[in-house]
This record gives sequence, structure tokens and C-alpha cells, in this order.
Amino acid sequence: FSIQNFDICTLFWSTLVLGFSYRSGNNITFMFNLSVVTEQIKVLVRRGDNATLPCRLNRSSQTSFDSSEMRVKWTKLPQHSSEETFVLVSVGIYRKTYGTFNHRVYLQEADENDASLIITNVTLDDYGNYKCEVISGLDDSTNVVSLELEGVVFPYSPRLGRYNLNYHDAATACLEQDAVVASFDQLFDAWVAGLDWCNAGWLSDGSVQYPITTPREPCGGKNTVAGVRSYGQRDKDQARYDVFCFTSDYRGRFYFLIHPSKLTYKEAVQACKNDGAEIAKVGQIYAAWKLLGFDRCDAGWLADGSVRYPISNPRRNCSPTEAAVRFVGFPDKKLKLYGVYCFKASK
Ligand SMILES: *[C@@H]1O[C@H](CO)[C@@H](O)[C@H](O)[C@H]1NC(C)=O
Ligand SMILES: *[C@@H]1O[C@H](CO)[C@@H](O)[C@H](O)[C@H]1NC(C)=O
Ligand SMILES: *[C@@H]1O[C@H](CO)[C@@H](O)[C@H](O)[C@H]1NC(C)=O
Ligand SMILES: *[C@@H]1O[C@H](CO)[C@@H](O)[C@H](O)[C@H]1NC(C)=O
Ligand SMILES: *[C@@H]1O[C@H](CO)[C@@H](O)[C@H](O)[C@H]1NC(C)=O
Repeated sequence: FSIQNFDICTLFWSTLVLGFSYRSGNNITFMFNLSVVTEQIKVLVRRGDNATLPCRLNRSSQTSFDSSEMRVKWTKLPQHSSEETFVLVSVGIYRKTYGTFNHRVYLQEADENDASLIITNVTLDDYGNYKCEVISGLDDSTNVVSLELEGVVFPYSPRLGRYNLNYHDAATACLEQDAVVASFDQLFDAWVAGLDWCNAGWLSDGSVQYPITTPREPCGGKNTVAGVRSYGQRDKDQARYDVFCFTSDYRGRFYFLIHPSKLTYKEAVQACKNDGAEIAKVGQIYAAWKLLGFDRCDAGWLADGSVRYPISNPRRNCSPTEAAVRFVGFPDKKLKLYGVYCFKASK
């Protein structure tokens, strides 16, 4: 057997199924069926999508078993703690689902060997590795599938300024921006895609890191290699940093409100309400920019009191050097100087 495309960044999972087969008639055949090395499968979806996590029982024996005997267990592997969480257990016709997966997961059962899991309406928290274990008669299979979300990582610091969030504040701050604290893998992928940020931020594993693509003096030194720099695990209560948040697609419409005059923050909140919407969150401007290529050269208020604008096509006077969500600051909320970005959730 062969191992293909081994990638150090990819967790590796292998299963060994030792098979033995006997045929009647004049021929007697013994076969050692040494299967199967499975590379970890990745499933990439956006928030709100349905995800199908593949899993099949490889039947090595010729005898057919009653498929109602099949037992399936799907668990979510811990990212940081030691306990797996149950997702779905199936024994014959009996099914049980757990916790946040209640009413959201079912088995595909396209044929008698299919134990694939379908998760509907995927949330940001569903991100992670899932393990399926299937047993039927003498056969069993184990498989790990990684559920990844297409989305965007963004650094966040609140109005209070840089380095003001402990781990718990960081989690709340991301949640308030329609996001979750990014995982290391998500930050790493963002770094590969070019994210460069000189302020250290919390990640979901409790570590504090920052991504550098262009080494320079104030960011760890000019003569250092590019990379994701780590301060290691920090005290979740005492240590204060910024945070890297992750968000994915949203169900709704993000837009710049056409309004005859510039607005104060309070007027901005009201103007979106009058339009049947809400003032947009920071995660929503990033998702619209990254996933939809949203481009608008008008500085607008957002829910956290910051003022930003999303540029996908860099041009003169509009983020000339790079595509980015430009940060103007947290201005005095009484200043009547800006427009507003609104978000209308779809029904
Ligand atoms: C026995 O083996 C021969 C040659 O390999 C094959 O042609 C034949 O079909 C086999 N018979 C059975 C019952 O498997
Ligand atoms: C081993 O198992 C696989 C998958 O079940 C099957 O396709 C293959 O033919 C088997 N090989 C042998 C030598 O029986
Ligand atoms: C997801 O699956 C549910 C139930 O099977 C279905 O009603 C819904 O339309 C699907 N949603 C998407 C986005 O495919
Ligand atoms: C079952 O066998 C197929 C084909 O040999 C292989 O691609 C697949 O990864 C195996 N699945 C498991 C769960 O071992
Ligand atoms: C999908 O999940 C979101 C957030 O968890 C929820 O607000 C929404 O109502 C769900 N949609 C469906 C179709 O279940």
C-alpha cells in the first residue's frame, strides 16, 4: 500500500483492516486483505451550508450481515480539551443525537455500508475533527474527517485600545462581531494567504501569536524569518492582548446605506433600523469583503463604534497598496462625519 501526499500540516489517521476470505467450490482462497490507509479527509463548507462527512464500512468478509446490525458512532474530537463529544450514535434503527447537534445531524445511508454524517446549517463552532466508528459483524472501520470553514481571519482590538483583552474578553469580543476566536490552523492559513499583523492576539487554544510575512524591526526583528510568531500559552485571566477572530458566510445582505447626510454613531444605528436592518458588525464587513469582494470607498460606522471601509480593488485614495478592510479608528461617537454599513438578515 502507499501513502500519498503526506503533508506535515495534515493530521494523519490510519486504519488497518485485516481481512480473511474463504470461497467454497473447488478453489479455496485465502486472502489477507490489508486495507486501508486513509488520509484525513477535509470537507470545506461555509457557515449555513450542509456538510457531508464521509464514512464507509469496508466489508472484508464475503458473508453478508444484516445491515440493521450496523453500529455507528460519530464523535467530535477535542481541539484543546481531552474529551470527545458525542455527535450521533446509531444502533440498528435506533438513533441518538447530542447537544448542539440535536435536530441538525443525520446519517446519509445511501447504501448499506454508508455511515456518512450530514450536518445541516453548519455553525462556526462546528469547525474541527470528527471521528466515525462503524461496526457490523466482524467488520469495523474508523475514519477521521476534518470539517473546515471557508472564511476570513481578522485581528480585533476594542475601543479601549491595544492589548486590553484577557482570553474570556477575547471570546466575547469575537462573538459580538459575529465571529469566534480563530484556531491556530485558521491563522496559519491566513498567514499563508498573506496576513501580516504586528500585534499579538489570542487564539482558541489559549496561545498568543501573530503572523508576519514581511519581517521588520518593530515586529520581532528585520533579520528574522517570516512566520506565525508565538508567545506560547498565556494566563487566560491575567494576560491581555488583542484577538484573532474567524468568521464565515452569513445569511443576509451587507450594504452601505445611501443617506443624504453624514451621521453620528447614534444616527447611524437609527438609520439602519429605519431601513429594516441593523448596523453591521466587524465580522460582517470582513466576510463581505473576503467572500463577496465587497468594495466601497466610503468610511462607515459599525456596531462596535469603529469606522472602516472595505477595499477589494486598491486604487488611488482608496487603500492604494493592498486590498484590505481599512480601519479609520474609534472616533468620537458624536462626530457627524461618516456614513454607515448595515446588515439585513434574510428570513
Ligand atoms: C477456481 O479458480 C479458477 C482459476 O483461478 C477459476 O477459473 C474458477 O472460476 C474458480 N472457481 C470458483 C468457484 O471460484
Ligand atoms: C481488498 O478490499 C478491497 C476493498 O474492500 C477490495 O476492493 C479488494 O479487491 C480486496 N483485495 C483482495 C485481494 O481481496
Ligand atoms: C440542508 O439539508 C436540509 C435537510 O436535508 C434541507 O432542507 C436544506 O435545503 C439543505 N440546505 C442547503 C443549503 O443545502
Ligand atoms: C474503504 O476502502 C476504500 C477502497 O479501498 C478506501 O478508499 C476507503 O478509504 C476505506 N475506508 C475506510 C473507512 O477504511
Ligand atoms: C441556522 O443556525 C443559525 C445560528 O445558529 C440560526 O440562527 C438559524 O435559524 C439556523 N437556520 C436554520 C434553517 O435552521
